[in-house]
Amino acid sequence: MKNFVLAAIFGLLGGAASLAQEKTSPSASLALTPPMGWNSWNKFNCNVSEDLIKGMADAVVKSGMKDAGYIYVNIDDCWQVSRDANGNIVPDPQRFPHGMKAVGDYIHSLGLKFGVYSDAGSQTCAKRPGGLGHEYQDAILYAAWGVDYLKYDWCNTTTQDARASYANMRAALDAAGRPIVLSICEWGTAKPWLWGKEVGGNLWRTTGDIQDRWGGQQKWPDGSCCSNGVLSILDQQLGLQSYAGPGHWNDPDMLEVGNGGMTDTEYKSHFSLWALLAAPLISGNDLRNMRPEIHDILTNKEVIAVDQDALGREGERVAKSGDQEVWAKQLKDGGRAVILLNRGSGDQEISVNWEEIGYPSGISAVVRDLWLHKDLGKFTGEFSATVAPHGVVMVTVRP
Ligand code: GLA
Repeated sequence: MKNFVLAAIFGLLGGAASLAQEKTSPSASLALTPPMGWNSWNKFNCNVSEDLIKGMADAVVKSGMKDAGYIYVNIDDCWQVSRDANGNIVPDPQRFPHGMKAVGDYIHSLGLKFGVYSDAGSQTCAKRPGGLGHEYQDAILYAAWGVDYLKYDWCNTTTQDARASYANMRAALDAAGRPIVLSICEWGTAKPWLWGKEVGGNLWRTTGDIQDRWGGQQKWPDGSCCSNGVLSILDQQLGLQSYAGPGHWNDPDMLEVGNGGMTDTEYKSHFSLWALLAAPLISGNDLRNMRPEIHDILTNKEVIAVDQDALGREGERVAKSGDQEVWAKQLKDGGRAVILLNRGSGDQEISVNWEEIGYPSGISAVVRDLWLHKDLGKFTGEFSATVAPHGVVMVTVRP
């Protein structure tokens, strides 16, 4: 009995201690909805500089992207060139002549947040110095620069354990005392959806890199496998939906909307599907000179609201018949967001019936088209629409 009482007391104390720890962790309540922002990689690759980043931050504000919810301005690979005699990471002095804090200060002055990129291995994917062995030192510098978001890549990690490596980086960031979103970029190799949340990751890539293409996988120029088109990434999300939730998201990679390799119809589908997947919406195009069509895709507030819905459910495929697919996501108010997707090359009539989305077939529900911005009326049991090739019809269904 005595032992039992002691065990109970220690159990309680332990519980209280871990609760207190959770409360005091600076990163405890980050990314309660999927992060939104801009990242340099998809369009600019290694061609990053202070001027580019500041110009893009200005454009986030001027284009209305900030008002639509895009907050993070993230510099991807190639801002760093070496380490100094003390092991501190050195930004490229030509491209970032005023250092990284100046860039962060500028981004913050616009009411935006600042992201950088590094790698869990010895070198980044573009062969710049990685974070291995410098995790705590780097985290202290990032915090001093005002970094709010770290994308942490997985190149050149040889025999490292992924879970331990990312847990170590989260511990380092927390020890530096600043809330910093941790974006795990491990490409899905070690199934990060199984452990990403536990190690304090806020999002984790589920696949290899996206390319500005509708479908298929292609080998990289060096012969290694593979870059993914939108449909190929989509197919790799099947079954992962239960791992996502507030603070921890599956990441099907950054957006290619506006980069020129797909039609506007395909970009609309790409954007709609990412929103339904509760994916981080990290734009990757040149925001300084977007066509109006691209602007209207990226800032469609009704589609963004689906992505940012506070319930934090990731949508899933609920029906498939050949090239016709139906995807659905439960919303906080009990409604559903639904995508009718036509993967084929001719117009198709696609239907969703209420049972597929978790409603009794007898009820009637208001259907609203999120691209036409129009209520389509009340429907009982099902809804159908003609969908263009490679296109979507995206609606909400509310009983
Ligand atoms: C990897 C990542 C990309 C990008 C590049 C940078 O390929 O998956 O998103 O960050 O590295 O080199």
